[in-house]
Amino acid sequence: MIEAKGPNAEQIHYWNEVSGPKWVRLDETIGAMIRPFGVDAMNAAKLQSGEQVVDVGCGCGETSFALAEAVGSTGNVLGVDISDPMLTHATQNRDRMNKLNVKFLNADAQTLGFSLGTQDLVFSRFGVMFFAEPEIAFANLRSCLKPGGRLVFACWQAREKNPWLAMPAAAAASHFNLPPGPPPGSPGPFSMSDPQRTVELLNGAGYRSVECHSVERKIDVSIGKSIEDTVSFLSQMGPAGSLFKDAPREKSEAALRSIHEALLPHQTSNGIELDAAAWVVTATRD
Ligand SMILES: C[S@@+](CC[C@H](N)C(=O)[O-])C[C@H]1O[C@@H](n2cnc3c(N)ncnc32)[C@H](O)[C@@H]1O
Repeated sequence: MIEAKGPNAEQIHYWNEVSGPKWVRLDETIGAMIRPFGVDAMNAAKLQSGEQVVDVGCGCGETSFALAEAVGSTGNVLGVDISDPMLTHATQNRDRMNKLNVKFLNADAQTLGFSLGTQDLVFSRFGVMFFAEPEIAFANLRSCLKPGGRLVFACWQAREKNPWLAMPAAAAASHFNLPPGPPPGSPGPFSMSDPQRTVELLNGAGYRSVECHSVERKIDVSIGKSIEDTVSFLSQMGPAGSLFKDAPREKSEAALRSIHEALLPHQTSNGIELDAAAWVVTATRD
């Protein structure tokens, strides 16, 4: 496990001690919800067989395996992540599936010394919103690209466009004394929600032809489970997860009831459907 130090020390702690173990437990469920956005990003990446790919913030490895499939046995994928529990899970899956062209590295993508100019594609599904110094991080990622290499990632649009993530926390909020929210752009799921800032940031990091494509769809947050299971799941992930941590039982129970009530109007014959919106961002290295 890497030490929680350097510019992203707080995130290294968070993804190893708080969110990583939870994510491993819920991997299948979360994967099913966010998979379509990863497919959008993969389509935008226009992968060719034989390509060399870095998967940034690869987590439990789902996208690394899909990328490896797309580049074939002559291509390679390197998944980089700060979370030891998530990478341990990824490595077990890789060995079970015998994916010979996938490697995982436990490292901070912002500060890692990549082999310069060796990669065709830097890819990420929701793994690039947590850098303390995003411009430095994206410049570092650019250094591993060959001339003409591509950057393609998915990141969340604004909180208001993502009730599937923001609604449980909002419904529970009145039961907790909330600390003031972090300033816009701080590391977290919505840090890259402003497309204009993303374009400026990536241009500043040396990328060209930066484009942000909007993708919006409904997510079935129940994934076949009961509304009670869904409430429990939603209270553990995203912004709501930190609210419930260490909260007294009475407050937690009242907050869970509020989430339950907020979900009721969204029950459909397809499950419990809430809106979600992401940017698929594409850019190139000259
Ligand atoms: C929201 S999860 C997405 C995981 C995975 N890409 C997926 O879609 O299932 C964000 C991931 O980014 C990783 N991460 C955060 N900051 C990072 C950094 N500086 N370097 C590498 N990985 C990082 C976290 O450990 C976590 O696995």
